[in-house]
Amino acid sequence: MDLSLENSVCLITGAAGFIGYNLSMRLLDMGAIVIGIDNMNDYYDVSLKEERLRILEDKASGETEGSFTFVKGDISDKAAVDSIFEEYKPDIVVNLAAQAGVRYSIDHPDVYIASNIIGFYNILEATRHSYDRADGQYMGVRHLVYASSSSVYGQNAKIPFSTEDKVDEPVSLYAATKKSNELLAHSYSKLYNIPSTGLRFFTVYGPIGRPDMAYFGFADKLKRGENIKIFNYGNCQRDFTYVDDIVEGLVRVMVKAPDKHDGEDGLPVPPYALYNIGGGRPVNLLDFVSILGEELMGAGVLPTDFDMEAHMELVPMQRGDVPVTYADTEALERDMDYRPSTDLRTGLRAFARWYASFYK
Ligand SMILES: NC(=O)c1ccc[n+]([C@@H]2O[C@H](COP(=O)([O-])OP(=O)(O)OC[C@H]3O[C@@H](n4cnc5c(N)ncnc54)[C@H](O)[C@@H]3O)[C@@H](O)[C@H]2O)c1
Repeated sequence: MDLSLENSVCLITGAAGFIGYNLSMRLLDMGAIVIGIDNMNDYYDVSLKEERLRILEDKASGETEGSFTFVKGDISDKAAVDSIFEEYKPDIVVNLAAQAGVRYSIDHPDVYIASNIIGFYNILEATRHSYDRADGQYMGVRHLVYASSSSVYGQNAKIPFSTEDKVDEPVSLYAATKKSNELLAHSYSKLYNIPSTGLRFFTVYGPIGRPDMAYFGFADKLKRGENIKIFNYGNCQRDFTYVDDIVEGLVRVMVKAPDKHDGEDGLPVPPYALYNIGGGRPVNLLDFVSILGEELMGAGVLPTDFDMEAHMELVPMQRGDVPVTYADTEALERDMDYRPSTDLRTGLRAFARWYASFYK
């Protein structure tokens, strides 16, 4: 079913986050009524989240057709989620709020269960009950889109990773919660005919990104003249995806809700879809670091004669990490006529320039 974003109420959870902010900016351009929720937790520098909200509010008060309302709240709080659904009656919900990070889940498991499991369950329940409120004007949630992750593939030996592959052996609690989201969404789609689409994101990077991610941490360390650690002795490949490409994929997916229809048993066939969204071009970590270094020098973050090699330490692999991620994007291309295309140098240049201006 094709939906329109203009004048649609889009509830974006994790709106002050990296992807949620970028998506909300784009939705404002498209004339959507954006309701953002975020608990503003301090997993990483809160001032970045505040800055993103400031830019969003600034944009919404300017020339844009769309509007932005921010609600500070926690999706693990059922009453808060229910009251937001009741008050704003969302047409499309995009669940991006989650505790991210593979390594952090080793020492902080509780927050993953609260945000990623209970929080997502609350979103599913509120979506289910949105149909109780349907009337001549409001139809309930017409599409629930949610973030999954390439980490569900764990140590999948077959590349590229396809959504058809069996992914029952997560190597981190984070991955287990993301896989659980897909299972929960499937059951709710089947039981309550909720159109839902899960997106497995592959290492998203870009300006005003996440300081906990490797590329950002590398920039911080190199700027301070410290060494950076390259895990698995550099034998690591990542399918990096530029944030604008993720946003483009998200808006294409948001307007294409899986169709509702009944099966031979007379019961609904779950209107459920799941896609990889990644560049489909894995890059060796050492090549990535070398382009990042060049772009940081180009942007003036590092001196032009900076010796990258002297600041790199090759170390063994960490628990929870995987040696390769590689997205098979065939299904996304087939159904959405889209695949991410921004090359690494262009994306890292945008990051380096933003970094130079933000931390000048
Ligand atoms: N960035 C990536 O490379 C990547 C890769 C795979 C999957 N993902 C997934 O994409 C989504 C967005 O990621 P991101 O990179 O923007 O991360 P992010 O941490 O920048 O954004 C998540 C936002 O959600 C908020 N949040 C966390 N728990 C919450 C809760 N219980 N209630 C309300 N708000 C809460 C945080 O404050 C944060 O602003 C996440 O679900 C993440 O797991 C991201």
